[in-house]
Amino acid sequence: MTAAAPHVPVLLQEVMGGLAVAQGEVHVDGTFGAGGYTQAILERGAARVFAFDRDPDAIREGEALAASSGGRLTLVPERFSRMRQALSDKGVDQVDGVTLDVGVSSMQLDRAERGFSFQADGPLDMRMSREGESAADFLNKASEEDIADVLYRYGEEPKSRRIARAIVGARPIVRTAQLAHIVRKALGWHAGMKKDPATRTFQAIRIHLNEELQELEGGLEAAEQVLRPGGRLAVVTFHSLEDRLVKRFLKERSGDLPGGSRHLPQRPAARPAPSFEAVAKPVRAGEAEVAANPRARSATLRVARRTATSSWVNAGQGTSS
Ligand SMILES: C[S@@+](CC[C@H](N)C(=O)[O-])C[C@H]1O[C@@H](n2cnc3c(N)ncnc32)[C@H](O)[C@@H]1O
Repeated sequence: MTAAAPHVPVLLQEVMGGLAVAQGEVHVDGTFGAGGYTQAILERGAARVFAFDRDPDAIREGEALAASSGGRLTLVPERFSRMRQALSDKGVDQVDGVTLDVGVSSMQLDRAERGFSFQADGPLDMRMSREGESAADFLNKASEEDIADVLYRYGEEPKSRRIARAIVGARPIVRTAQLAHIVRKALGWHAGMKKDPATRTFQAIRIHLNEELQELEGGLEAAEQVLRPGGRLAVVTFHSLEDRLVKRFLKERSGDLPGGSRHLPQRPAARPAPSFEAVAKPVRAGEAEVAANPRARSATLRVARRTATSSWVNAGQGTSS
C-alpha cells in the first residue's frame, strides 16, 4: 500500500463560516473522508455529528475520532442520499446543518490499490464503497457506444468516440496504467502537455460507476428534508458538472428561476414556496490556499439557509420519494 498524504480539508474556514455552528446543535457531515470538517464542527460545540461515508476505509479510520468524541460523533457507513432514512432509524428527524464535500478524498486518490489514479498503477477498481461493478468490469463488458456516452457525459470529453474505440480494441483492461496508456496513445499525448489527456476519462468512469451526480441530487433533496427551518446547507464541489447541479437546485428552490423565455410556456403559478433562502454567492479558494493545496483549485462552495416551508420533495415536485 502506498502511504497516503493526509487529506487537507478544502475551504475549511469558509465552510465553517457558512455553517455557523452554534453550541448544542446537531449536524450532518455527509462526506466524512478524513474527518476534517467533522472535527471542526465538533470543536465549535456541536452536541451531535452524524458523519456519513460510503467508503468502509474512511469509516474504519474515523473510529479513533469517534471514540474520543465522548459520544458526540456517530459514523454512518451509508450513502448521503439515504441520510433521511438513516437519521430517522436513529430517532433523528431534523438537524441544524448539512455539509457535503463531494468527490474523492486524497486517501482514495493516493492509494494505488483503490484504482482511482492515472498517475500510480493499480487494479482498475474506482469503487468508493468497494461494492458493485468495478471500472474493469464496466470497460471490459460495455459496448463501445455506452463507453463513449459515459466519457462524453461525465468527462465532457470531445474525443469520446476515439477513446472508446481504442478501449474496446485493447480489451481486457485490468490496470490503471494500462487504461492511461491507451487514452494517451489515442489522443496523441506528448510530454509538456498542460493536462494529462487521461484526466477526463478517469473522472468520467469514476462518476459513472459511483453514480456521483445522482447521489449529489439525492443528497440535496435529502438535506432539504432533514434541515430544520433556519438550518444551513454547505456544499463543496470539484467540477462544473457538479457545481451546475448545485447552482440549479438552489436557484430553483429559492424561487430564483431563470427569466421567462419567449420559446417556453409560462411556468405554472402553483410552484411550492421557496425551501431555501439567503443563497450565498459561490466561494472559491484564494491563491494562498491553492498554492498550499492544489486540490483546492477547482473547489466551489455554495451555502444556503432552509426556510420554514415543507420540502419540495414532500410537495411532490422533487425527483425522489
Ligand atoms: C472530498 S472527501 C471529504 C473530505 C472531508 N470533508 C474531510 O475534511 O476530510 C469525499 C468523501 O466523501 C465520500 N463520499 C463521496 N460520495 C459519497 C456519497 N454519495 N455518500 C457517502 N459518502 C460519499 C468519499 O468516500 C470520500 O471519503
